[in-house]
Amino acid sequence: MERQRLLEELAQREADSRGGGGEARVAKQHAAGKMTARERLVALLDPDSLRELDPFVVHQCHDFGLDEQKVAGDGVITGHGRIDGRLVYVFAQDFTVFGGSLSAAHASKICKVMDHAMRNGAPVIGLNDSGGARIQEGVASLGGYADIFLRNTLASGVVPQISAILGPCAGGAVYSPAITDFTAMVDQTAYMFVTGPDVVKTVTHEVVTKEELGGATTHSSKSGVAHFKVPDEQAMMALLRELLSYLPQNNMEEAPRRPTSDPADRSCTELVELVPTNANKPYDIKEVVVSLADEGRFLEVQPDFASNIVIGYIRLDGRSVGVVANQPSVQAGCLDIDSSVKAARFVRFCDAFNIPLLTLVDVPGFLPGTAQEYGGIIRNGAKLLYAFAEATVPKITVITRKAYGGAYDVMNSKHIRADFNFAWPTAEIAVMGPDGAVNIIHRRDLGEAEDPVARKAELVDEYRRTFANPYRAAELGFVDTVIRPEDTRRVLVESFATLDNKRAENPPKKHGNIPL
Ligand code: HXC
Repeated sequence: MERQRLLEELAQREADSRGGGGEARVAKQHAAGKMTARERLVALLDPDSLRELDPFVVHQCHDFGLDEQKVAGDGVITGHGRIDGRLVYVFAQDFTVFGGSLSAAHASKICKVMDHAMRNGAPVIGLNDSGGARIQEGVASLGGYADIFLRNTLASGVVPQISAILGPCAGGAVYSPAITDFTAMVDQTAYMFVTGPDVVKTVTHEVVTKEELGGATTHSSKSGVAHFKVPDEQAMMALLRELLSYLPQNNMEEAPRRPTSDPADRSCTELVELVPTNANKPYDIKEVVVSLADEGRFLEVQPDFASNIVIGYIRLDGRSVGVVANQPSVQAGCLDIDSSVKAARFVRFCDAFNIPLLTLVDVPGFLPGTAQEYGGIIRNGAKLLYAFAEATVPKITVITRKAYGGAYDVMNSKHIRADFNFAWPTAEIAVMGPDGAVNIIHRRDLGEAEDPVARKAELVDEYRRTFANPYRAAELGFVDTVIRPEDTRRVLVESFATLDNKRAENPPKKHGNIPL
């Protein structure tokens, strides 16, 4: 009898915890086009794999009548589960309980799973949907945030951390996602900002909607804060599962290798004529990426931000590979502040987590101008240089066309420890393009020429034959060899295979001083 009563009590408490903020608030959540925290975890994880921790935790706040309002779980579901059979730690904020706001107890639950993740070497996925600091708890809540920020920082480079934004995320709360490796937002229902539209209006007199200020479109195209924008929550869960498939569990492991039926030596015939012979004509570098990838699958990261550089994941013969590629069809593929920072962070993530890097180069140089100089293109461009130079993972570069000036050095050149540097016959590796070079080194000659136009064409041609080809670099060994475009997949697969046991280390240090 007594045993029966004990079991009934457990069942009752479990039901209370599962009920969250009650039916009315759940209905409101659904009406807003949002799933509940528990529904989200079910959609994210392998069937029946969620193992919840702390379902009975309640807040310890006595002010503002909160004594009378305690909901088991305190607005966040935490625990571990499986994605494709692999262990992940998760937390999902429950907007139906105090608006998912963060109390000290709520924060402790998140910290507990993060500590597990660190000890056991598995990724952390946070599903964020919260009104921010639990206002009634005051500084205790702020302390809770700081406890999370500290763990985000210590876990950085140890286990992958991914933030999904599925509702409000405001105030200092945005800084936890910002420290994590990837931030993904749902279109129209998610927003992130340091201060909301009302405060903005008071301080700067700007009138802006919350969608314009911090919606998914803003952060995936303007600020670069979000790496992904998805149309709805189901798409979010599919994205998180796919993203994870390219990543290792922690910095001591490698990403899982996925068997493929795509032949390693598949000839990429579609690449033969892709690069226009006219060096000023654009083409889409993503066609190269997709052609090289196993089954043509490319998970692009930050597709709508700084699109003059393309980053993301492919597999080559089953190996996960991070791709960094100049995009000639956007701003001629130049490097500017945003593209440098975007690629640098990606390179550092891949290096921290043992993901080999493939760099595709077609770059006319750094973008000139006062906007770039005043914005610090020197410091920001240096980030990409630093990131490639310090990276010790297997690194392969293919120069498809232009590799001019400093950008040649930056884009994973041999000099900064790329393992293999290949060039297509269309490559032009030089200090600058033929036009600019001839204008500088033949200024006097051109000034004195009877027919300056004809003379210039002659000199440009001479320069092109001398420098604007891959063979000067190949003669010096800066390019290992010149390959046919259609052979690129086979060459890459074979070359990466030789690097499986690569050993390379940087000098011992506390940490470097990347030009932030
Ligand atoms: C306590 C909160 C809360 C909060 C919402 N709720 N935010 N409770 N602390 N921060 C509660 C509401 O009282 C309400 O309770 C329920 O959650 C749902 O909220 P609604 O306002 O009804 O929902 P909605 O209309 O959808 O608006 C959502 C919202 C709004 C935009 C998030 O609630 C809001 O503006 N909240 C305050 C946001 C905020 O300023 N937070 C502090 C940011 S500063 P009932 O019982 O009615 O269901 C910050 C500092 C962090 O976070 C610093 C870290 C360093």
